[in-house]
Amino acid sequence: MKKTKTTIGIKVPFFPTSREFKVIRNELHDSLDQLGESGFLILGPKVSEFEEKMAKKVNRLYCVSCASGTDAITLALQANNIGVGDEVILPANSYPTIFGVALSHASPVLIDVERNTANLDPKQLKKKITHKTKAIIIVHLYGLSANINEIKSICKENKILLIEDCAQAVGSIYKKKPVGSFGDMAIFSFYPTKNLGALGDGGAIVTNTKRTYEKLKMLRMYGERNRYDSIFVGRNSRLDEIQAAFLLVKMRYLEKWLLIRKQLATIYFNNLVQLKNLTLPLESSFGEHSFHLFVIRTKQRNNLRKWLKEQGIETGIHYPKPIHFTTSFSYTGNKGSFPEAEQWSKEALSLPLHPFLTKKEIKYVTKQIQQFFSKTI
Ligand SMILES: Cc1ncc(COP(=O)(O)O)c(C=O)c1O
Repeated sequence: MKKTKTTIGIKVPFFPTSREFKVIRNELHDSLDQLGESGFLILGPKVSEFEEKMAKKVNRLYCVSCASGTDAITLALQANNIGVGDEVILPANSYPTIFGVALSHASPVLIDVERNTANLDPKQLKKKITHKTKAIIIVHLYGLSANINEIKSICKENKILLIEDCAQAVGSIYKKKPVGSFGDMAIFSFYPTKNLGALGDGGAIVTNTKRTYEKLKMLRMYGERNRYDSIFVGRNSRLDEIQAAFLLVKMRYLEKWLLIRKQLATIYFNNLVQLKNLTLPLESSFGEHSFHLFVIRTKQRNNLRKWLKEQGIETGIHYPKPIHFTTSFSYTGNKGSFPEAEQWSKEALSLPLHPFLTKKEIKYVTKQIQQFFSKTI
């Protein structure tokens, strides 16, 4: 494509965490001061307060925080004695989900995804269930809820544990209820760029079962019943008190920031809907997208990405390879095993979308996309 000079000299970063920091800087400083004076650094009152609020947010009785979303997946499986010799089903495109499964020593089994949502395709599920299947992890990818009811009834019928991976879905709704409130358990990640992100790593598991809750608390702390009284091998996986304090600050802004994400997504929809060579995210009939990521699809993905980069616009690809194409997990499938996931990895492009994206920036992004397609048709 012939390069024309269109840049108006603005740079649009994918997610500039410094902008968020500026808005809440004073509150973050205050919480650090309070913590320093309180002397609680590990599993103190801020962790408990955060866990209580997080459980409430997704209509659950219990929440156990931990060091990351990856640990949350492993701990959720271990709390149910799922490990060596067991199979855990997950969607073939959710690269970050499989690590928590593999680290539990259970065998991951991949399922293809739906063309229109990128979420696990319930139609593919039954043929992959064996007597070894102990859990199914559904991922509400990009912030769009999966088809929960259909999958839940398959789990019930086959007595299989259902875990919702809500790492990208804080604020997503399914049939008027928050995601994370449907499965036997749900996990969250508080990686900094998530809808609710810490200033570092963090994760959590929610459940309504007291026994699971008690076991999770031991699993994240060396398997200890009481201090220095370990009764099984657990790990050290705790949400730092300071991260809990920061998350509590950010929770105050969550609803406002989710609303801004939706408003910005509407601008993308309105300005890009007329483009024929591009597919916009599905707005499902059963839920509300929380727009953790705004992922478009186009066969010209690589050229469009290059063009946007030349115009100063950063984009992302979530994810450039389906799981079975990675070296680590090549044993989970061959080329052609999961055609929809493979196609998504070739065509998906994540546009900048975060609560600090300005109207000027988003209009600039859409203008550059329009310009790209007007030249390539
Ligand atoms: C869908 C999904 N699952 C799991 C994870 C793992 O979370 P973490 O990065 O906190 O380990 C992530 C994070 O990127 C994710 O997006």
